[in-house]
Amino acid sequence: MKISVIGLGYLGAVHAASMASLGHEVVGVDVDPAKVEALSAGKAPFYEPGFEALLEEVAQTGRLTVTSDLAAVAGSSVHFVCVGTPQRSDGYAADLTYVDAAIRSLSSHLSPGEIVVGKSTVPVGTAARLAEIVSKAEPGAVLAWNPEFLREGFAVKDTLHPDRIVYGVPEGESGRRAAQVLDEVYAVPLTDGMPRIVTDYPTAELVKVAANSFLATKISFINAMAELCEVAGGDVTQLADAIGHDARIGRRFLNAGLGFGGGCLPKDIRAFMARADELGAGEAVAFLSEVDEINHRRRVRMVDLASDVLGGTVEGARITVLGAAFKPDSDDVRDSPALDVAVRLHENGAHVVVHDPEAVENARLKQPSLSYEPEVYAALDGAEAVLVLTEWRQYRDLDPDKVAEYVAQRNVVDGRNALDRDAWKTAGWHYRALGRH
Ligand code: UDX
Repeated sequence: MKISVIGLGYLGAVHAASMASLGHEVVGVDVDPAKVEALSAGKAPFYEPGFEALLEEVAQTGRLTVTSDLAAVAGSSVHFVCVGTPQRSDGYAADLTYVDAAIRSLSSHLSPGEIVVGKSTVPVGTAARLAEIVSKAEPGAVLAWNPEFLREGFAVKDTLHPDRIVYGVPEGESGRRAAQVLDEVYAVPLTDGMPRIVTDYPTAELVKVAANSFLATKISFINAMAELCEVAGGDVTQLADAIGHDARIGRRFLNAGLGFGGGCLPKDIRAFMARADELGAGEAVAFLSEVDEINHRRRVRMVDLASDVLGGTVEGARITVLGAAFKPDSDDVRDSPALDVAVRLHENGAHVVVHDPEAVENARLKQPSLSYEPEVYAALDGAEAVLVLTEWRQYRDLDPDKVAEYVAQRNVVDGRNALDRDAWKTAGWHYRALGRH
């Protein structure tokens, strides 16, 4: 099929390349010339494991073209809208400027029978509003909402082999036709038995925010238990293992630590609260405000722990922060708990040196006042405290005896419960962690 993808960020770029690898003819469009240039040259504009290999594979086929000219979408049977919906600067709600602009510009290029497919995460009610814009511009075109659940770090796998697929479509013949066309788009994963759920627009929009709210709640739940463990002398990692064996609960997303960040979970729960308020159902998701609060308290607690190991204050201390990305296998620093803690320490007078295997460039752009060191042992040199704030494999694998040769004092705070505590203690380290001793 001929497919267009509008917006080539983490979601759109991986989606475009994945669709081409499934055999479709894809044109990707983005307003950012740097993205267009990189992708046209077969280079990933961000760090995502497996993505560059996918781009190389797709380049051999010639099925993916990338441009900044929206007119190139003309003639595609399906148009995926993958632009961002960040948090608005004046509150919790989602900023729909980019989605609205993409749909409006796309509308003038539509022909009868074409399907416009929204993948961006939007407040419930948006699809119905955008459907009117589409049908006014081209009565023969249909809008569907097909939320995306990909995780950064696993974006290629999640796009090619999603856990499930959801189509939100209008009632009647146009909706049936949209679902049929999407079935053709996803024919390969559907043949592999991927579950497919066809819903109305509001359900499809809500599925996405409900999923992210549930995940955020699960993380904040275990972090609340970590707070309890801290005051009662328990071990949150063992607690998570023990409750996680109950299949109804499950062990995944019960890793206690510095909490969630990134471009999705934080802004999605806030946008959900804002939208629920607008709909007069704010009470139904009022608990998400507590989820957000618990998440933020972990950052404050981390700064307190750093201060504890340094004898009561971080002022003037040389602190090595390992990790700037919001999670491992990503160079994304949007709402990164690690970077936030580094900034708080810096503001409290510490001399902070930040290391990250992939995210230093992005972190430096966002927080230029911090010091960055691209080589891990150089970053550790002379440290009075080492803070592990993103659980990269490289940090889990650090040899505590070797690290001890570089630092000034053997103080380590494990913000992600990622280190082998006994090995570090045996090597003479003063080990502290969130939610265990
Ligand atoms: C998330 C959703 O998982 C994905 O389905 C959706 O499409 C986009 O948002 P992503 O933002 O890539 O994906 O990251 P995710 O793996 O969900 O992690 C989010 C944050 O939670 C990270 O900061 C991570 O470190 C943290 N986390 C995750 C924990 O603190 N504990 C856990 O047990 C799991």
